[in-house]
Amino acid sequence: MIDNTTVAKILDAADIVEVVSDFVSLRRRGVNYVGLCPFHNERTPSFSVSKTKGICHCFSCGKGGSPVNFIMEHEQLSYYEALKYLAKKYHIEIVEKELTDEERAEQTEREGMLIVNEFATQSFEDNLFNIQEGREIGLSYFYERGFSDNIIKKFRLGYSLDNSNSLFKMAVSKGYNKNYLFKTGLCVDDKRGGGYDRFKGRVVFPVLNVAGKTIAFSARTLKNDQAKYVNSPESIIYTKGNELYGLFQAKHAIVKHNKCYLVEGNADVVSMHQAGIDNTVASLGTALTPNQVRMIHRFTENVTIMYDGDSAGIKAAFKAINLLLPEGINVRVLLLPDGDDPDSFAKKHNSTEFLNYINDNEVDFIRFMKRMLLDEVKNDPIKRASVVGDVITSISLIPFEIQRSIYTKECSELFGVDEEILVREIAKKINQNKQKEYEKKQRKISEEKLENKREEDIIVPIYNEEKNDIIKHKTADSNAKNLFPYEKEVLKYIVKYGMTDFCIGNSDVKNISLLTYISEELDIDEITFTNPIYIKIFSIAKECLNDFNTDLAIFDEDLAKDNINALKEGVNKIRQESLFSIQDLEKKEKELNEKISAEAKKKRSEFQMYYLEKRLSSHIDDDVRLTTLELIQEKHSLSKIHTKYGVLKSDFEKLDILVPQALYNWKDALIQCQIKECQQSLNLTKDAKESAELLKAIQELYALRKDLAQYLGDRVVNPKN
Ligand code: CTP
Ligand code: MN
Repeated sequence: MIDNTTVAKILDAADIVEVVSDFVSLRRRGVNYVGLCPFHNERTPSFSVSKTKGICHCFSCGKGGSPVNFIMEHEQLSYYEALKYLAKKYHIEIVEKELTDEERAEQTEREGMLIVNEFATQSFEDNLFNIQEGREIGLSYFYERGFSDNIIKKFRLGYSLDNSNSLFKMAVSKGYNKNYLFKTGLCVDDKRGGGYDRFKGRVVFPVLNVAGKTIAFSARTLKNDQAKYVNSPESIIYTKGNELYGLFQAKHAIVKHNKCYLVEGNADVVSMHQAGIDNTVASLGTALTPNQVRMIHRFTENVTIMYDGDSAGIKAAFKAINLLLPEGINVRVLLLPDGDDPDSFAKKHNSTEFLNYINDNEVDFIRFMKRMLLDEVKNDPIKRASVVGDVITSISLIPFEIQRSIYTKECSELFGVDEEILVREIAKKINQNKQKEYEKKQRKISEEKLENKREEDIIVPIYNEEKNDIIKHKTADSNAKNLFPYEKEVLKYIVKYGMTDFCIGNSDVKNISLLTYISEELDIDEITFTNPIYIKIFSIAKECLNDFNTDLAIFDEDLAKDNINALKEGVNKIRQESLFSIQDLEKKEKELNEKISAEAKKKRSEFQMYYLEKRLSSHIDDDVRLTTLELIQEKHSLSKIHTKYGVLKSDFEKLDILVPQALYNWKDALIQCQIKECQQSLNLTKDAKESAELLKAIQELYALRKDLAQYLGDRVVNPKN
C-alpha cells in the first residue's frame, strides 16, 4: 500500500537513536547509546543503540533491530503500520488510497480499534470546540477549572454529546466497523443492530499510550447524580495497569528533569502541566502497579509521590512507596497542605511558588513515614517499635546495598535506634523476602509442572541470596567448601570465554555473551558464588560487560575499515597481474574476499575471547590476578575433548554443552548441601511439626535432584550436531 520509493525514503530518514529515544531514555557511551531495555524488566541498562549501524539490540533479552523492527515490536504494529508511524514522525507524505469494504475488514483488530479510537478522539475534540452543546457545557467546564486552550489541545480533551447514539451513528455512517466500536467500549451493542454511546454527556480525557495513540477514554460527568468517571473497559489494546495517564505528554520532561511526579487524578495531571510542572503522570485510578513503575523507570529513577493528604491518599502513598523501592527508584513524597490536592494547589499558586513549595517540602520516604506514623503514636514505645518495623520493611525492599545503608543510617538517626540493630533486622527481612519470593516461585513452578511445562524451568532453592549471609552461613558449615570446585568450574568458563557469543541449541536467543547467559541462569535460580574471591571476579567481569560492548562496536568499525582497505589493495594487486580471462579475475577476487572475511572473523572472535582474561589477569587485586591465571592455565591442558565422532574439539566449540552441564552440576551439589543441612536439623529437633516440615523439605529436594538429573541426562544423551 506504500510504494517502494516512499518506503526507501522512510527508511533513510529514520534515525534509530531518535526513534528509540521516544520510548527510552538513552545515554551516550562511546560510539553507542545505552538505556534500560523496553522489552524486559531490568535495572541496569543492557539496551544498546548504534547510530552508525542503525540498529538497537538488547544484550540481555536479544530483542531489537532496525527502526521498523523496533516500532513493530514496541508498539505491536504490523510492518505497514510501523512504516506509517515513521513516515508521520519524519513528515513524509504517504498517499493512501481509500479503503474498500473488504480491505477494511482485513485490517487487524488491533489496528481497527486504534483507528476508531482516533476517530472518536477527534470527534470529541470537535464537539468541544465547534459544536454549541460542547462549547457551552464541556468547554466552559474546562475553562472554569482553569484549563487553557493549549492544555486542552495538548491532552486532546473532548466532549461526548448528550445523546444516546451520536457517536455511533456518525462512526457507522463514515464506514467504521461496528465491532470495533463495541470492542473498544466506545459504544454498547443494543442487540438490535444499533449501539449506545458509553460516554454521552461527559467530558472526555483520552488515555494515550506512550507512543501517543488513544487506547482508552476516561470520561468525567458534569452532573451530581452519576458516577464521577466512566472508563473504557480493558481490551486487547488497553490494560489499565500497564498505562499511565499523561506519560505521552510528560515523557520528555521526565527525562529532562530526571524526575517524575506521581499524582492521583487525570485532572491533577492536566492542572500540573498547566502550571508548568509537566513531568507529571497519574495511575488511571488504580493503585500503582509494578508494570507502571517499570514504565516510569524507563525514563527516570526519581519519583515524587504527590497524593491527596487525606487518609486514603496517605494509605495509597505507603503502598506506592513499597512498590517503587524494589525497582531501585529514589522515592520522595510531597504532602500538600490540608484539604489541597495537586489540582487545587496548582490553581492557587503560580509555577514558581509551586516549585518552591516542592523544594521546601518534599521529603524522602523515611521522613514521610516518620511524620505520618510517629505523630499518631507519640511516645508509646510499643507502637513506636511497630513504626520502625514498617520503615525496616520498606528499606529491605531496596535492591542496592549502598542506598540501603544510607537509609538505614538515616532511620537510625531519625528514630534513635542503634544502627547495628537496624542492619541486623533489615538483613533478616531481606531473607524473609527471599524466602517468600522463593515460595512464590515454587508455587508457580508446581503449577506449571501440572500444566506440563518445559523442564528447563527447574529452580533450585537457595533462599539466602544476600552474599554476606551465604558466606557466613556456608563457611561455618563444612558443606561450603564442597561447593568451591563447582563454582570454580563455572567461573573458569566465564574467565576464559565470558565475552564470546553464546547460543544454546537451536533456540532463537542469539548473540548474548556467555557471561550474560551464566549470570541470568544464576539469577533465575538465585544462586551466587560463595567463595569470596570468585564473587569478586564475577562482579568485575559483569562490570566489564558494558565497556566491552562499546569496545566491540569500535573494534567492529575499525575492522570494517581495514577490510575495505585490504580489499582495495588486494584488488589493485590482482589487476596488475597479467591474467588470461575475466573468469580468472573473478576467481581471484572471490578468493581474496573469502580470505579477508575469514581473517576478520578470526580477529573478532579472538578479540572477544581474550578481552576479559586480559583485563582480569592484569587486575590490580592480587587475588583476582592470581586466581585468573590459575583458571586460564587449564585452558591449555584440558582443552581437547574427544567426541564420539573421533574429532578433536576444543572446549570452546562445546561450550553449549559444557557450560549448562557445569551449571547443573553446581545446582545439584547445592541441593545435596541443603539435604544434608535439613537432615542435620532433623536430627536435632524435637518438635514434631518442625520434623514434619523438614521431612517434607527433604522429599522436595530429592524430587528436585531427580528432575535435575533427568534434565542433565537429556542434555548429555542428546548433544547437538
Ligand atoms: N476514578 C475512576 N472512577 C471514579 C473515580 C475516580 O476511574 N468513579 C479515577 C480517575 O482516573 C480519576 C482518578 O481515579 O482521575 C482519581 O480520582 P479523583 O481524584 O476523584 O479524580 P480527579 O481526576 O482529580 O477528578 P476531579 O478533580 O475532577 O474531581
Ligand atoms: Mn481532583
